[in-house]
Amino acid sequence: MSNKMWGGRFVAGPDAVMEAINASIDFDRRFWAQDIAGSRAHAAMLVRQGILSEQDGKEIARGLDTIASEIEAGGFTFSKSLEDIHMNVEARLSELIGPAAGRLHTARSRNDQVATDFRLYVRDAVDRLDAAIAALQTALANKALEHHDVVMPGFTHLQAAQPVTFGHHLLAYVEMTARDRGRLQDARRRLNESPLGAAALAGTSFPIDREQTAAALGFDRPMANSLDAVSDRDFVLETLSALSILAVHMSRFAEEIVIWSSAQFGFVRLSDAWTTGSSIMPQKRNPDAAELVRAKTGRIFGATIGLMTVMKGLPLAYSKDMQEDKEPFFDALDAAELVVAAMTGMVSDMQPNRERMAAAAGAGYSTATDLADWLVRALNMPFREAHHVTGRIVAVASENSRDLDALTLEEFQAVDQRITAEVFEVLGVDNSVRSRTSYGGTAPANVKARAKTWIERLRS
Ligand code: ARG
Repeated sequence: MSNKMWGGRFVAGPDAVMEAINASIDFDRRFWAQDIAGSRAHAAMLVRQGILSEQDGKEIARGLDTIASEIEAGGFTFSKSLEDIHMNVEARLSELIGPAAGRLHTARSRNDQVATDFRLYVRDAVDRLDAAIAALQTALANKALEHHDVVMPGFTHLQAAQPVTFGHHLLAYVEMTARDRGRLQDARRRLNESPLGAAALAGTSFPIDREQTAAALGFDRPMANSLDAVSDRDFVLETLSALSILAVHMSRFAEEIVIWSSAQFGFVRLSDAWTTGSSIMPQKRNPDAAELVRAKTGRIFGATIGLMTVMKGLPLAYSKDMQEDKEPFFDALDAAELVVAAMTGMVSDMQPNRERMAAAAGAGYSTATDLADWLVRALNMPFREAHHVTGRIVAVASENSRDLDALTLEEFQAVDQRITAEVFEVLGVDNSVRSRTSYGGTAPANVKARAKTWIERLRS
């Protein structure tokens, strides 16, 4: 049987493989609600403009309501032969209300319809994600406040560098995810324009009012160029790019959780709810959720690169290639939502091991910089000389397999006789972090204040 929507020009139906490659209903049904909202707005505008009779408008609205409840109740039969969500809805509308259904598509094309649906869908997704990331930030800031003075090693090159606090480390991710939210909000601002009324590509000869449909759907304005409206997917790419950067942040944190929860580090303990056991090794508590957060990043990057590649060679305006914009986005979105939720759960339950962290913080001569700074301050040594003197002291300690604060005053003075007993005050890790009071530094007082600022900000 030839197609109901365009059968006039055709005598035969599509090959089965043609139908399989062409159909998008299995995935674009996800935005049925947006499709129906778009149709409602379009029909109401057609009535107000005198393009559609009041009577037809009422029947269309009633029919669309019925379809929405059928889909919600799970009683709607989606058909592959009807290709996509737009034609599935329209076909059902015509079953329900008869010939008036055929008037809904006046001054509209599936090209502006799908672009509208997708923008609405991405907008909702961005709003959901924003709230989810805010919940993660709240979990991080609460943990940071609770552990603002827990000392741990700060790393460079994954070598212990200088002591920092656990709270400070957690707050670093609050700052990063704040920028992730900012990027998503920027993308939302740019995508919130209406393609509806661009029709197939050139606009329409009907006296439509695009301002009306834009306002009804919560868009800021109609898009100014009909070719652009139906043919760009930069709003998906931009959102995917923002998700990719978010995924980088989540993956780095997940990697740290994997390292921290290992027996060798023992910095944190994940709760039972966020670990798995082994079927053979009874002692195991594996950080599977963190590992999967790290791995899901691959999907999100893949979706971004995949859609970039789909789009890059397409002449204006619409090409069917663009139907391939949805699955990667849905997949990346699902992954991102899981990743953020899993991170929130892990962080909320995570317990730091204060002793292990403090011991590791003091190892590896991590207060050597504090010693050099003391030489500058107390003895007015130029920093370069202080660096050299400290290096020699570290060498003495290292040869004797001792920490800096285990050296005797005589041993310090053997390197530089001006050194006094006051030096011992700067060699402990607690003193070290407490002294880092510069703006943005790791001093517990700073961390406490910043955590409180965030908690307050996230509450409003
Ligand atoms: N299912 C199509 C898509 O996702 C809808 C637009 C179809 N337009 C067309 N000219 N064939 O892109």
